Amino acid sequence: MDNKDIATLIVDGHTYKLPIIRGTEGEVGLDISMLRSISGLITLDPGYVNTGVCSSAISFVDGEKGILRYRGYPIEQLAQHSSFVETAMLLVYGELPTHAERTAFGNMLGDQALLHEDLMHHFEGFPPHGHPMAILSAVINSLGTYYPDLLQIDNKNELYLAVAKLISKVRTIAAFSYRKSVGRPIIYPDPSRSYCENFLHMMFSVPYKEHVPSDEALRALDLFLLVHADHEQNCSCSTVRMVGSSDANLFASVSAGICALWGRLHGGANSAVIHTLQNIHDGDYSVQEYIEMVKRKEFRLMGFGHRIYKNYDPRAKILKECAINLLNTLTIKDPLLDIAMELQETAMQDDFFISRKLYPNVDFYSGLILRALEIPVNMFPVMFAMGRMPGWIAHWFEQYQDQGLRIHRPRQIYIGQNERDYIAMDKRTQQSTFQFQRA
Ligand code: ACO
Repeated sequence: MDNKDIATLIVDGHTYKLPIIRGTEGEVGLDISMLRSISGLITLDPGYVNTGVCSSAISFVDGEKGILRYRGYPIEQLAQHSSFVETAMLLVYGELPTHAERTAFGNMLGDQALLHEDLMHHFEGFPPHGHPMAILSAVINSLGTYYPDLLQIDNKNELYLAVAKLISKVRTIAAFSYRKSVGRPIIYPDPSRSYCENFLHMMFSVPYKEHVPSDEALRALDLFLLVHADHEQNCSCSTVRMVGSSDANLFASVSAGICALWGRLHGGANSAVIHTLQNIHDGDYSVQEYIEMVKRKEFRLMGFGHRIYKNYDPRAKILKECAINLLNTLTIKDPLLDIAMELQETAMQDDFFISRKLYPNVDFYSGLILRALEIPVNMFPVMFAMGRMPGWIAHWFEQYQDQGLRIHRPRQIYIGQNERDYIAMDKRTQQSTFQFQRA
């Protein structure tokens, strides 16, 4: 290691040497893993704003330039030429598949779409209006109990099988949870259909009438899933890695990822955007009034802002164009599209958003595509989870193979009471200081 690979840290007159790690795209990081043992110091970084937790070869994001690449391929090229299933293979296995590999994997997805009949009873145990994200997470975790041999993956064949099961069955579980929530009979998967066609069939066919989606609808759904397929160390992916770092199995780890995705600051944002647009449409407030409320920090403009992107999220560009084309070809006039465009234009001319570098993110236009496909709003985060499944698996597997893996266990700065003696109940005079405050 020469001098350019060493950083010097001076604290209280003591000098410490820290290795510099360089990524293939020129990113530079300080390796502080030995800092505490050599100095007694830890680093404090709430929200992991500036903390790299691993080296990864899956996705590259340059938030300043608005660049996203999967395994080196620009998202725009994949969106134009690839498909969700092909991209899923790229993410998990590292390279674009050959024709034969793609066909074999497609067949496996078809074969794996069914759920074990016993697992079907789980759906009956949920209340009719149980949120489909809760059902998805619970059933994905339960799935592992049916495949004990896959709870530890020892060879390529087991990996192929686990990957096919998860990518295929997530769509079956998603569709069944929807059918359950609306009290419709379950429609079994049909392996002769493509990935997206099969999903829409399970969602919308009825015993007396088959759902036949248009090519445009299928392409839009495929694109939606593709652009959601990975996004490096986001909250849900980090959760998958965190859980997986304890050597938890793949099913448990991605189930935890689904829970992390559910929050409205992450995968729950796409439905929140539609609620906002709907409220404006219903006349609760105008676009300008809404922007003023956001600026007064009464709430956030959902679908805007990103931890990494300080420029236009490239996925938002792709999905905006897709939403406009889809609505045009299906000849649907969705008033929420006009409101979304007005909201974007107004926000992007306002110094509040300009100075904070807040741009539309992937969630801003995605809900308009899902609405056009007649996917109900409470299913939006589930759709995100279906798309993100390959990314979670790829990250779990990358970490699983890491010989130097250590359990994820962050540190803290303790700010509580110093040591004190236990007080018997009859001697306690002071009221509890417990307070509840929610931002
Ligand atoms: N609307 C209004 N103000 C915002 C928004 C927003 N959407 N996002 C950030 N800000 C403001 C913050 O209030 C803060 O202002 P301040 O400096 O005056 O305090 C500043 O911008 C920086 O915000 P942070 O909270 O530090 O940004 P962070 O990186 O922690 O959060 C996040 C990123 C969660 C995505 C945030 O932008 C947000 O809440 N957006 C809305 C929810 C959303 O769309 N989530 C989906 C994200 S993409 C995804 O998960 C797929």
